[in-house]
Amino acid sequence: MKRRVILLGPPGSGKGTIAAQLQQRFGLPHVSSGHLLRKEAESGSPVGKRVQMFLEKGELVPDAIVLELMAGWWNSAPLENGFMLDGFPRALVQAQALDDWLLAKRAPIEVVLLYDCNLEVVLDRITGRLSCPSCGRVYHIRSLPPKVAGRCDAGCAALIQRSDDSESVTRKRFEIYARQAEPMVTYYRHQGKLAVIDATKPPADRFEETVRALN
Ligand code: AP5
Repeated sequence: MKRRVILLGPPGSGKGTIAAQLQQRFGLPHVSSGHLLRKEAESGSPVGKRVQMFLEKGELVPDAIVLELMAGWWNSAPLENGFMLDGFPRALVQAQALDDWLLAKRAPIEVVLLYDCNLEVVLDRITGRLSCPSCGRVYHIRSLPPKVAGRCDAGCAALIQRSDDSESVTRKRFEIYARQAEPMVTYYRHQGKLAVIDATKPPADRFEETVRALN
């Protein structure tokens, strides 16, 4: 099974949901750039304060900040068990930097899973999403409610609606994704690593398709 994986796709396509399923089933470590950035913002550090401004507006955080944060992961992560990168890379310059890092560790990306999803589905999912600010686990008020209303099933924290999950900010994130993704998709298609998955399917079908792409 391929174990060095990138999860690509618009906001709400289900990258975080799939990552949780793959982590549970195959023990693949999940690395979410969005989660790391939200933690940095919560820390209130000078960088975190800058990050927060981009997150709230739904804009991409500057590459230099993201690359520094992700270099922390790359420097310290044991890569032997593989990994799933969710939300990173998000721009061609990030994809190229990642390839250079992984080449140095002789651990190149094996597959890039592109979760294809339209804006209508994305808006329905994101405006109903609840997230755990502590562990990053996600729920949905209708399709995936927590066992106890308002509480994370893992027992860590009260669930919140992310500040960038409003309809207007989600529309903006979707537009930015559509613009930024194309060059990266071409980049990975040329490398022969791209697998496109229909992300509008129910979670079980989408998971099955994902497992097929990993094998
Ligand atoms: P990030 O945290 O990466 O957010 P995102 O990519 O916008 O993706 P989401 O977390 O919103 O959605 P998802 O695809 O994980 O869907 P989920 O599984 O939760 O980034 C946030 C921000 O950080 C960015 O806007 C940017 O500012 C910044 N950032 C991050 N990385 C960056 C980078 N590399 N460079 C620059 N800036 C960066 O599912 C959504 C909902 O749908 C859930 O409620 C779920 O329960 C439900 N759901 C999922 N699948 C299904 C299904 N099949 N059927 C029904 N419901 C479903």
